[in-house]
Amino acid sequence: MSNVARLSDTSIHDWYRHVFAYSDQIIVDLVNEFEIEDDDVILDPFNGTGTTTLTAKRLGIDSIGVDANPVAVLAGQVKTTWDIDLEEFTQRRNDLLGTVEPVFDRISAEGNVTLDSYTDTGSDETAVSLDQYDFTEPEKTPKDWLSEKPLKKMLVLRHHVDEMPADEITDIFRLAMLAILPEDVANIGFGPEAYKVSMQDDVDVYTTYRTKLDAIERDLRTTQDALEDGMAVGETEHLGGDARKVGEILQEESTLLNTDKHEGEIDYLITSPPYPAEHDYTRNQRLELIWMGVLEDNSDLQKIKKTNIRSNTKNIYVDDDDAKQTNIRENERIDTIVTRMEQIIEEEDIQHGFGQYYPRVVAEYFAGMLRHFEQVYDIMAPGGKACYVVADSGSYWQVPIETGEILEELAESRVGFVETEILPWRKVHATTGSHDGLDEEILVLTKPE
Ligand SMILES: C[S@@+](CC[C@H](N)C(=O)[O-])C[C@H]1O[C@@H](n2cnc3c(N)ncnc32)[C@H](O)[C@@H]1O
Repeated sequence: MSNVARLSDTSIHDWYRHVFAYSDQIIVDLVNEFEIEDDDVILDPFNGTGTTTLTAKRLGIDSIGVDANPVAVLAGQVKTTWDIDLEEFTQRRNDLLGTVEPVFDRISAEGNVTLDSYTDTGSDETAVSLDQYDFTEPEKTPKDWLSEKPLKKMLVLRHHVDEMPADEITDIFRLAMLAILPEDVANIGFGPEAYKVSMQDDVDVYTTYRTKLDAIERDLRTTQDALEDGMAVGETEHLGGDARKVGEILQEESTLLNTDKHEGEIDYLITSPPYPAEHDYTRNQRLELIWMGVLEDNSDLQKIKKTNIRSNTKNIYVDDDDAKQTNIRENERIDTIVTRMEQIIEEEDIQHGFGQYYPRVVAEYFAGMLRHFEQVYDIMAPGGKACYVVADSGSYWQVPIETGEILEELAESRVGFVETEILPWRKVHATTGSHDGLDEEILVLTKPE
């Protein structure tokens, strides 16, 4: 049983999930509510596991997903690439599984005296050598998240996936590898932050991986059949980058937005941004980042973190100055919250620990979101609507932070959005963990005609 919360059991979404994913039902509801049509384009600037772009594609609407995390970009791309040569896929699947199975068996047998001595004597011609593999635990792997044997197997798997040609088919094998890490292989649970559970000696990585690949293949076949039967789908595009610069990114890098059909303008935006609540996306997806090969260098993690909206105390830096640049404390509500937190620090004489950074996170968070709104405004079509699924937060000494209302004020008074409203959104799937169990709401902003 997967230990990542399942928000819906629909196909393709399940190829790769994380606890902060929202339900595809939100997209379906908003598309109906605003009568979004197939000549429109939807943007999700915090696209995560690709719920928005996958759902939009299925509804026949074009969409663009942006995310600061390279794992999210890969997930979005793979989940929306359906013109895969399945014969070639099956060939590679068989080759890969055939290669790793005996190696995994050998690893499982390690420490087992009978089997070990049997293979070591060389009496078995099919004995598998482990010499070609580097079993050093990758840097940045949190302690005890992977037991020794599963760790070795995942390194073997990565070795062979990395040897495959760099193309869309291999991306499927890579995403499937990343997906099984937190779901089934690592000694972790999510609540919603990743935490360690008891160490398992060994894991059947072979069956887990094969099952994942089989599910993907099945979904692709069904989808390809539906396409042959004339199912209309939207175009999708996935880009890496910081939502605080989303306007520039789309203008410079997007092909889809700059077609005659869309003329450089976004019609709708649907997303669930971070909010100040101590969720560290780069920690929850640490293993995936490592196995994807993007944390090679010591500074790589910080580089990715710095492109994230400041929403937790493990992600705040001395040179952060969005709050200063935007004079964010001119907003009375933000100033009241920050002042209250500064008072607590003074009264309690807090000089250590994460608490000392709470006021800065709050100020930098709203300043970052303000910069994001300004960029969205620039690329939005007149009359276009932007929908943000947010939740209030009480994570910082229970000081209430009405995220939606504050963002609404900023969008209206500082950016120029109009007809702003907050719609209640009761989660259809009341899963544990997500968003602290607080009710979510949808902030809707309209760009004037
Ligand atoms: C709440 S999750 C989105 C989940 C998504 N709705 C889904 O269904 O998977 C927020 C996402 O924002 C991304 N993120 C955080 N700061 C960002 C930034 N400045 N620019 C772009 N993406 C960012 C994180 O990597 C994370 O994937």
